[in-house]
Amino acid sequence: MQDIKIASVVSNEFEKEVYSGLTDHPKHLSSKYFYDKKGDRLFQDIMAMPTYYLTDCEYDILENNKKEITELFTGFGTFDLIELGAGDGKKTKILLKEFSDKNIDFSYVPIDISNNALNQLQNSIENELPKVNIQPFQGTYFEALKEISSRKNRKIILFLGSNIGNLEHEQAIDFMNNIKELMQQDDLLFMGFDQKKNPQTILDAYNDQEGVTAAFNKNVLARINTELNANFDLEQFLHWEVYNPETGSAKSYLVSKIQQTVQIENLELTVNFKQWETIHTEISQKYDDEIINWLARQSGLEMTTAYQSKKYGYKNCVFKKS
Ligand code: AVI
Repeated sequence: MQDIKIASVVSNEFEKEVYSGLTDHPKHLSSKYFYDKKGDRLFQDIMAMPTYYLTDCEYDILENNKKEITELFTGFGTFDLIELGAGDGKKTKILLKEFSDKNIDFSYVPIDISNNALNQLQNSIENELPKVNIQPFQGTYFEALKEISSRKNRKIILFLGSNIGNLEHEQAIDFMNNIKELMQQDDLLFMGFDQKKNPQTILDAYNDQEGVTAAFNKNVLARINTELNANFDLEQFLHWEVYNPETGSAKSYLVSKIQQTVQIENLELTVNFKQWETIHTEISQKYDDEIINWLARQSGLEMTTAYQSKKYGYKNCVFKKS
């Protein structure tokens, strides 16, 4: 009965996931819906905050190991450097500059769902690194990878920022396995993994005093308000971060401060919240070597090299098809 009702009121993936997430128990919404124009800006602000150590760690790894990484990528002649979810490309530019300075023959293929993000990236690269041959690709990661896999160049696939951590293990294995299916024997997958560390450091990274992460988390409610005609009162929800040092999962919640009712007009849905009821919104998984090797094995990949940051724990791992 509920399925018939859902089918009659939802017309896209966002509506479908909001409907099912808010009628489920416990309630949940996906962190992929944090990102619209405002959400992108908030995430840029998060990445610039010292407490969000992940950005600096990865930046340092790339800066300190760029020579070795260059050797690893260039051993087989020309290649396509394919980046999944490139953002503003700040970290990738370290490698692009190194390759450009050394006159290395490669193409940079950033993939993003947002045309706007790709245009900005293309402009900044054309200005700052005019020698780099950039071939942006708009679409989902797998649409793009499928298209690109028909090209004969060697592929180096970048997935930075510990973005993999926003997936549960099962989804992460699926994701890595799908990438492996599109890789040839000499292709490489270069990924960032945030490591388990002092739990307080992790809590501080996801619960800044300025409230930027809270606004980022609540942006999913703001989007439901504007895009689906809803009346969430953002003030009546608390951003709450929990880190489990045993499993390595950092989880974000929105907690209803009061008993309240929210109307989502476009979904013809009334959502009731008890006081202190939760909506789970994001997982940011932290890893150790055992988990990374297990994920790789399950996905048919083999780790060949890893680079570690000096401060805090962060790793960039390189995989090939096993
Ligand atoms: C994009 N992703 C890897 C970030 C993370 O660390 O999970 C998103 C984020 N959420 C809160 N702060 C940053």
